[in-house]
Amino acid sequence: MEKEINILGIETSCDETAASIVANGNIIKSSVVASQIKLHEKFGGVVPEIASRAHIEKIYPVIEQAIEQAGIEKHDIDAIAIANQPGLVISLIVGVTAAKTLSLALGKPLISINHIHAHLQAAMLAEENIELPAIAMVVSGGHTSLYDCENALELKLMGSTIDDAAGEAFDKVAAILKLPYPGGPSIEKTAKNGNPKAIDFPRSMLGDDSLDFSFSGIKTAVLYYCQGQDMKGRNKVDSMSTQEIADIAASFQAAVVDVLVAKTRRGIEKINAKTVLLGGGVAANTALRESLQKMCDSIGKKLLIAPKSLCTDNAVMIASLAYYKYKAGMFADLTLEAKSTS
Ligand code: KG4
Ligand code: ZN
Repeated sequence: MEKEINILGIETSCDETAASIVANGNIIKSSVVASQIKLHEKFGGVVPEIASRAHIEKIYPVIEQAIEQAGIEKHDIDAIAIANQPGLVISLIVGVTAAKTLSLALGKPLISINHIHAHLQAAMLAEENIELPAIAMVVSGGHTSLYDCENALELKLMGSTIDDAAGEAFDKVAAILKLPYPGGPSIEKTAKNGNPKAIDFPRSMLGDDSLDFSFSGIKTAVLYYCQGQDMKGRNKVDSMSTQEIADIAASFQAAVVDVLVAKTRRGIEKINAKTVLLGGGVAANTALRESLQKMCDSIGKKLLIAPKSLCTDNAVMIASLAYYKYKAGMFADLTLEAKSTS
């Protein structure tokens, strides 16, 4: 039997400090995620300086725990993978520095990983052979992008958001509705009791064949709905019934899901895709998962979605994708830098 390749993945791009050991790209030996939700919730969003400081405190305990839970020793690690882009530079830099230090100290190769590509790897984890061409959508707090996916390492950008990302829209609308941070899960929970047809919020399609996204219009529509065009109803949300709030959440969610599904369908038609991949934090949303499944079933396309536990930021997806770079001999060196963009 061939020797297992154990890769240590590290993720610090935003507000989760995560480490994981994955063998041969798909055997998850451990996954540790230290969430910073408690630190940021009172600010209603991620505060970069607080995030960076928390990463510094957690990075080594989280890595130690991931190695211990995997039941391996440090010298059993074959490579160290780090998400070095895109994200908050002062957060990324903590993971990049830890990864470089370990690489140097253990004498093991360093592998750089694009965080967005890794979100899609979470959707491919359980699948050995993906029928091509494939269309891949990443819906996260920072990105909403459609790719033509050649393989795990080759993605061609076909469209992306021109303003807010889908997750950002969920977070901002949750703030308007005074729902707890992070907004995505709050909206989803509240929407369960609401009527998705109660309010006809706009579905911005940006022209007949555009594959780009825009979510700032719907966010503004929710704001005007809650506070009036003149913004004079500033405290209207406080006097709304639980049912009214639920109806707004459900109608907003339905509009965002409609746009995401319609754009994916456009992408499928453009490249005649056989497979559809979905990853990123918003991919945890059940309404989106179900609606995309229904559309794919109706036109006979195979849909692969990241498991819910691997939609939001984690290091399994980093260690898993790194295996393909390891096999291809695509290593980074100690000059590797953190970058805010893709
Ligand atoms: O991928 P992710 O963990 O971080 C980034 O790379 O940005 O995504 C976080 C985003 C947040 O905006 C969060 O509100 C959203 O994903 N999210 C959801 C759900 N769970 C997380 N949005 C809708 N429904 C959910 N269940
Ligand atoms: Zn992410």
